Amino acid sequence: MKHILALLGSPRRLGNSEIMAKEIGRQLTIPHELKMLRLPDFNLAPCRGCYRCLTKGRCPIDDDFAVVADAILEADALLLVAPTYFLGPNASLKAFTDRGLALYPHLESLWGKPSVAVGIAGIPGKEGYTLLGLENFLTMLFTDIRARRMVYGALPGEIFLSGHNRDIARTLAKALCEPVSESSAPCCPLCGGTTFRFIDHHRVRCMLCSNEGTLATTGEKTQIDIRKGDHDLFLTREDALAHREWLLSMKDRFKKQKDDLKRISNAYRTEGVWITSQQRADG
Ligand SMILES: Cc1cc2nc3c(=O)[nH]c(=O)nc-3n(C[C@H](O)[C@H](O)[C@H](O)COP(=O)(O)O)c2cc1C
Repeated sequence: MKHILALLGSPRRLGNSEIMAKEIGRQLTIPHELKMLRLPDFNLAPCRGCYRCLTKGRCPIDDDFAVVADAILEADALLLVAPTYFLGPNASLKAFTDRGLALYPHLESLWGKPSVAVGIAGIPGKEGYTLLGLENFLTMLFTDIRARRMVYGALPGEIFLSGHNRDIARTLAKALCEPVSESSAPCCPLCGGTTFRFIDHHRVRCMLCSNEGTLATTGEKTQIDIRKGDHDLFLTREDALAHREWLLSMKDRFKKQKDDLKRISNAYRTEGVWITSQQRADG
């Protein structure tokens, strides 16, 4: 019995994200239990950037982060479905990802869990960077992203007014059970990322793995050639482990350079007038 966790990025009950996750669950051909979790329902405070989770193994913030992290750790495979809000995925995804340093102590057990992603936008083509946001979320959980799709529908339930998106659900369910070759659309040959930034007329950077290369079009075909850089974050398990070591080494580097760094920061101490949240309480 496989334990599948659906992570939903929509606050809407029985909205498109929820029914898409449940449809993918219905189409799974392996014995499974589908657990579901609505990220906007959880209290996920902003990361404080203290790095204590890396060394202590636990985030010092007392909120729901550990509940979500434990559910992810317990799952055999992940299904992420989130709506587009203002050209990107719902903010609950980023709220969780920002706390992701706390997942590095669990890198070994998280590594390579199968995952699939679905973004849902109300207007065809108006998803902005939603897919990149979903890929980023699943990559920062060290998962093996087997497939990703955008589907379109604004009203709750609208995505299944036609049968097309049920076919997509079937494809995603299949990908979760067994590795599949993704569609022939151009993607990063290193990480499978689907979003690129032009650096100049020929060179591009993959916005997921951050590596650079060239893009050439011959006839109908687009050839993307991306080369591995010096400091990769997650392409292989060894890269991810090396990055964790690099993160841990920052503490010593900070201690060594502390005086110089403080001198730089302190020179900016007195400028500007702060507006604080306390002012609202004070009326
Ligand atoms: C605050 C907000 C912002 C939205 N922004 C976009 C957008 O930028 N592009 C788009 O295509 N749809 C946008 N939508 C529409 C939703 O993506 C769409 O209704 C989707 O089906 C919602 O999924 P859900 O039913 O799972 O909540 C927005 C919806 C809301 C509530």
